[in-house]
This record gives sequence, C-alpha cells and structure tokens, in this order.
Amino acid sequence: MNVLKEGKLWLLLLLGAATQLTPLSSETSLQWLLFVGKFHPMLVHFPLGLWVATALVLWVGLRSPALVIEPWLRGGTKASFWSGFFTFLTGLMLYFSGTYGEEIVPHMLAAWVFLVSLFVFDVVLEKGVGMKKMGWLALVVTGMMGYAGHLGGVITHGDLFESLPWEVQATTETSEEGTVLENHQDDRSVFTAAVYPILDDKCLLCHADRRARAELTMTTEAAILKGGVSGAAMIAGQAEASMLIQRIQLPEDDPLHMPLTEPFVTPDEEAFLIWWINEGLNKKIYEIPVQFASFIQPMTE
Ligand code: HEC
Repeated sequence: MNVLKEGKLWLLLLLGAATQLTPLSSETSLQWLLFVGKFHPMLVHFPLGLWVATALVLWVGLRSPALVIEPWLRGGTKASFWSGFFTFLTGLMLYFSGTYGEEIVPHMLAAWVFLVSLFVFDVVLEKGVGMKKMGWLALVVTGMMGYAGHLGGVITHGDLFESLPWEVQATTETSEEGTVLENHQDDRSVFTAAVYPILDDKCLLCHADRRARAELTMTTEAAILKGGVSGAAMIAGQAEASMLIQRIQLPEDDPLHMPLTEPFVTPDEEAFLIWWINEGLNKKIYEIPVQFASFIQPMTE
C-alpha cells in the first residue's frame, strides 16, 4: 500500500471514531455546526451521482470488454470517495449539533461503511483482479450506498414505506377508534382541542417522533414540560420565562427564531399560547376565555 492509501485508511478510522463522540450543546458552536451542516443535503448528491456513474461505466465495460474503462473507473472511484468524505464531514457537523435524535446514528454508520466499501473497491481496483470481480464488489458498494441513502431519506422525508396506501389506511383506522368514544361529550383538554392543532401546524414537523429536533417532542404537555437538550421548553405559570415562547418572540430573521420555517405563529396564536402556559395547563376547554374560543377545533368524527 502506498502512502496515500494509508493516509485514507487513517482518515476513515478517524471518521469512524468521531461517530462515537457525543453531540455538543454550546450555543455558538451550535450555530457553526448547523451552518456547515446546511450543505449536507446538497453535497450528498455528489457521491451518489458519481458512484452511480462509475458503476455504469463498469457495467458498460463488462458488456464490451474491448473498451478501456480503467482510467474512468479509477477517477470515478476516487471522486466518489472524496465527495463522500466531505459530505460525511458535513453530516458529522449535524450529528454534533445534537439537533437530530438517535435516528441519525444508523444513517451515519451506514454512510461510514459505504465510504469504507469505496476505499476497499479502490484498493482492489489498483490490484487489478479482473472486471468480473469488480462487478460483484460494485454491487456491494451500491447496496451500501442505497441503504445509507435510504436511512438518510427517512430523516429528511420520513419513512417512504409508511406512506404506502395500506399503511396510511391502517393508521387512520386506529386513530378513528380513539375519537369515537368521546364523541358525545366534549370534555377535551385545552391542549388536545386547541393547542395541539396550532403546534401541529407550526412545530410538529420538526418536534415530533422521529424528527425531534434538539430532542424536543411537543406532542403532549408532559413532553413539552420535560423539554429537549436545553431542558424544559416551558415552565407552568411562567410563559415569558418559557423557551417555547421566547423562541417564538425572537425576530424572524434570528437563526434561533421558531419555527425555523414558515408558517410562523400569528400574534393571536402567541397570545393564546401564553395564556395556556400561564393558566391553561391541564384545563378543560370550557375554561378557555371567550377571546380564545375560536382556537377550539371541532371534534373530528
Ligand atoms: C423546520 C424545523 C422546525 C420547526 C418547524 C420548529 N422547530 Fe424548533 N427547533 C428546530 C431545530 C433544528 C432546533 C435545534 C436548533 C435550535 O435550538 O435552534 C429547534 C429547537 C427548538 C427549541 C429549543 C429546544 C432545546 O431544548 O434546545 C425550542 C424551545 C423550539 N425549537 C420550539 C419550537 C416551537 C415552539 C416551534 C413551533 C412554533 C418550533 N420549534 C418549530 C427546528 C424546528
């Protein structure tokens, strides 16, 4: 092995070790990590595209052995590796920012294995073992890429398989069962009937289930009280001291303003959320002051 190869191996081991570190939580480093991490979703297309192109070259070469494809293979493999390497670094920044939950870990490890498989492909290619064998190895690399890519996709767009028509059907059926029971007496809590719908619109995209940014889940009052990486997101009776309200009240161009993306919380909604934290926790909807009554959503059948 030449020096360059060994260097790469060390880099890979270093990346692997980095995946074992724990996320940071200091405010200024967070901004930097999130900034660098912003490039991840864009960069990720390079290794994917470059590797697909490289695999295609190999496929063409296997079908027409007369073609000289080795230089293209070498170049393609190296380009895939290095673009993958830098993409991985930006992904690590997102991991270190701590704004993603545990779901990021399998994606990160799979991406690392993909990089390692590219490295192995490169080493074997230099050895010159014949194109047939390279073909099989390319399948393994492609499989790893597909798997890592799938796990990454789950983080950004949710699990594709969950949106299969029959899966969606199953979830709606179970949630319907829950509402039928309470259909005739409206003693829903303030949270369920009025607060949740607002959060659902404005916050839950990033603060529920598998996308709990900063590990903050906002689907129940208890979860919001518990909070995320920086502790309680609200303090009962103290709306102005609650992070949830403070973040909403930041100027819209402040990077910490919540929600990160539109639609933003309207002044009326903000006033209602403030009342809810100050006085409305654990209350029933008939205790909502009239000026906020319009926030009560009709019961769904
Ligand atoms: C588009 C995604 C997105 C939306 C929508 C969103 N957030 Fe966030 N939120 C984040 C990210 C990313 C972080 C972590 C980075 C940060 O602290 O700014 C975060 C962090 C937070 C935190 C700090 C948690 C902690 O423990 O550090 C609070 C509080 C918060 N969000 C409240 C809200 C509220 C309230 C809404 C809805 C009005 C909302 N967020 C909507 C992405 C989002």
